[in-house]
Amino acid sequence: MSVLTLSSGFTFDYTNLYGDSKVTAEDISVAAGQLTKAHQAIVHMRSTGIVKGHLSKDGQSEKVLFTQLPYIQEGHINSPHVLDRLKEFGESLRYKVDTVISFGIGGSFLGNKVLFDIHCGDFYNFKSIEERKGYPKLYFSGNNLDPRRTEELIGHVINEAAVKQGEPYRVTLVVISKSGSTLETMATFMVAYERLKQMPAIEVSVVAVTDPAEGANETLLHKLAREQGWPMFSVADGVGGRFSVFSEVGLVTAACIGFNMDAFLAGAKSMDKDCQTDNIWQNPAFLNAALKYMGAEKYGRDIEIFMPYGDYLKSVSEWYIQLLAESLGKRVNRDGQEVFYGRTPVAAVGTTDMHAQTQQHQDGKRNKIVQFVRIAEWDTDPVIPNLFPETAKLADMAGLSLSQGMEAARQANAQALASDYRFNATFTLPKLNAYHLGELLYLLALSVAYEGELANVDAFDQPGVETYKRILGPSLQRLKNKK
Ligand code: PA5
Repeated sequence: MSVLTLSSGFTFDYTNLYGDSKVTAEDISVAAGQLTKAHQAIVHMRSTGIVKGHLSKDGQSEKVLFTQLPYIQEGHINSPHVLDRLKEFGESLRYKVDTVISFGIGGSFLGNKVLFDIHCGDFYNFKSIEERKGYPKLYFSGNNLDPRRTEELIGHVINEAAVKQGEPYRVTLVVISKSGSTLETMATFMVAYERLKQMPAIEVSVVAVTDPAEGANETLLHKLAREQGWPMFSVADGVGGRFSVFSEVGLVTAACIGFNMDAFLAGAKSMDKDCQTDNIWQNPAFLNAALKYMGAEKYGRDIEIFMPYGDYLKSVSEWYIQLLAESLGKRVNRDGQEVFYGRTPVAAVGTTDMHAQTQQHQDGKRNKIVQFVRIAEWDTDPVIPNLFPETAKLADMAGLSLSQGMEAARQANAQALASDYRFNATFTLPKLNAYHLGELLYLLALSVAYEGELANVDAFDQPGVETYKRILGPSLQRLKNKK
């Protein structure tokens, strides 16, 4: 067994990724120079924010500061004052605001959805105010231009307001956009704001989360917020959308639902400390990146199936899709050569996708690594009752808890894949809580930074998304002019 165990109990089991017919000890030793260089680059990034060759969208040199986020201290992006302000904002909503709608897309949505799903689950908005500890209901919008869902969400809020007796129904719209002008976010915000403002029974307030720059670089959202007097939170310089769950962007959602942001950042910090050693066998981000990079480059395993076992972890898969795809899917390397690098991420959930994707994982091309995530101990764990003792197949299930069944299924999946040279690995979180979630997300974020160094690509830009935007802008103008 090859398992890296951290003091928190978090483990990385890479047994089915490393050894004979997998990434070998020789692969690691041949790459020693490259690995040392990658680690040194990460040390440099952590201490200075400087990453070789990284430029902002405007071609300016730009620091990479996400490794600072777990450390709450004066002068840091996450200072004690920033955290206090977020918590005060959360408190100000309790028993006062009925509903929050959070508008955002990509990095201004995916991490927020993870925090919501892990903390709240599927049924939060059906719960009583007491069960929600006074926090408002929370819905997401702006992560698409879907006309039907947007309309239905507005209609739903209006219906809820209609049944509230006495006081007005209070809605806070939290608009999150670093650039301040993203089509999906701003369009759905304007549709909802206009409609809700017209309702006499609804009181609407707005909070903006955007780049705080003023003057020539001021975002449209910032300008609006300044003119309208909306409270603001910041999207810090040097923190790209896909790394921003640890900053005010993600923490503003944490504040709205009473998610433990201190524990979340403490988990991220503990993972950062665990990832400071130059000993690859003790450093989970370094090891994860190296094994995946070599799996792709040497053994053609360039698809990563991210497969946590548990429904509420599905949004972690979706968050990871953006992290891996935008960070590492790159046409050119940092020397300007075409490399078309990038492992393709695929979102999956166990056990659900064992009944959908696993056929392909087991018998399709040997071009994948299946990355499992498991929770060692669940807070609640119903036991299957012996309801039909005469029916042998059902009686066989009886007495097992659901999590025992789920883990047995995951192990069977891992073993079946490994038996046919199908690479896979497992992260284990001792429990599904804010601390271990912070560890997991931070490990993945730091891993892509390491892999960017190994592949010599800029993990912090996303020039490819500009190509369609250059087509979309004029095409929207043409559509408007036709009217
Ligand atoms: O990672 C990214 O930079 C993108 O996914 C952005 O987060 C996304 O496009 C939303 O951008 P913005 O926050 O500027 O509205």
